[in-house]
Amino acid sequence: MNISVPRRVTAVAALAALALAGLTGTAGAESRAAVAAPDIPLANVKQHLTDLQSIATANGGNRAHGRTGYKASIDFVKAKLDAAGYTTTIQQFTSSGATGYNLIADWPGGDPNQVLMAGAHLDSVSSGAGINDNGSGSAAVLETALAVARSGYQPSKHLRFGWWGAEELGLVGSKYYVSQLPTAERSKVSGYLNFDMIGSPNPGYFVYDDDPAIEQTFKNYFAGLGVPTEIETEGDGRSDHASFKNVGIPVGGLFTGASRVKTSAQVSKWGGTATAFDRCYHSSCDNTSNINDTALDRNSDAVAHAIWALSGTTTPPTGTVFENTADVSVPDNGAAVTSTVNVTGITGNAPSNLAVGVDIVHTYRGDLVVDLVAPDGSVYSLSNRSGGSADNIVQTFTVNASSEVANGAWKLRVQDKASVDTGYINNFKLTFP
Ligand code: TRP
Ligand code: ZN
Ligand code: CA
Repeated sequence: MNISVPRRVTAVAALAALALAGLTGTAGAESRAAVAAPDIPLANVKQHLTDLQSIATANGGNRAHGRTGYKASIDFVKAKLDAAGYTTTIQQFTSSGATGYNLIADWPGGDPNQVLMAGAHLDSVSSGAGINDNGSGSAAVLETALAVARSGYQPSKHLRFGWWGAEELGLVGSKYYVSQLPTAERSKVSGYLNFDMIGSPNPGYFVYDDDPAIEQTFKNYFAGLGVPTEIETEGDGRSDHASFKNVGIPVGGLFTGASRVKTSAQVSKWGGTATAFDRCYHSSCDNTSNINDTALDRNSDAVAHAIWALSGTTTPPTGTVFENTADVSVPDNGAAVTSTVNVTGITGNAPSNLAVGVDIVHTYRGDLVVDLVAPDGSVYSLSNRSGGSADNIVQTFTVNASSEVANGAWKLRVQDKASVDTGYINNFKLTFP
């Protein structure tokens, strides 16, 4: 059985737990830097699209403003976020004589004076289920928010996610949100990232040409994948980022194209055909078949990359990396297992800020006792059954290892201390500055 522990531990509680585990100084302290975004599982994003399609099907075939399918979509997204530990708010407004809804989800923690926002419109047009427009952006933002919760990410900035109503009636929901945000609160929003249509069936890879830092963050991500991008030109201001931009908030976003036709030059660059990026744009065929999985996968990962990259203030460690990528399965409620990294060629002792990258895939992190074991057998506690029912431990810990000789076999030791939930060590990495 799993023990009952708080679902999330605060940084202070985590440090207190580490102190109880007999650590001193900065050893074991969580690093706010150097936390890379996790991969966003495409299967999860697609499941959200399947669920949104079912909601449309059960509500007359659409999820449009003022229709039952819209409110059902809001309730669906809200339930997932509530279960993950978000503070959610439904904001009501009226448009064309019908009640509209925005959903706002705040991730507890971070600097309240520096808020990073990401959002997507959740409404469809009345002619169809709106799976690319804009189930795609809604699902990617939802899964990124859930990934924040799963990884227990505690960024320097405060994170806020939004799902907007009545975009298709003229950005109504996002305009309303911004209009209700006091001037002092607006100035705390350091950026708004918009995702509207990011899984077009004949995709292009478009980046909004707005705030330079946000734009560069997306471009860097795609450059790393070797995927060329272009500046978005199919109607600047045609989505919810315009509402934020109009009040001076830095904005950016991604787009895979709507009704415009892909040029032959773009076909050479991205593949596909010289037809509309989305031939089902605003039509009844915008269903779960109207999605390019590769585009949805890349863009979902790009959402997470940008959220992680733009929410911390410090730079990731650079230096010499020693890594073991072999999977090691962790037996359920069983003996400890280890993954070993052999460090060579480093003179003298390990640093006081050894970056210990831990990537454990597990369905209940509260089962796990995770230690770093130095070559001479000294033990540094990284996580002692913390994090409750959240899954996975994907985190970079900073360990004061200055009393250890650097060279030798370092081990990540993981023991599962409660039955039912299981998992494996996915990756173990040491970075010497
Ligand atoms: N917002 C439009 C819609 O929902 C789609 C769209 C057209 C768009 N051009 C865009 C979205 C440019 C983002 C950027 O129907
Ligand atoms: Zn749209
Ligand atoms: Ca277990």
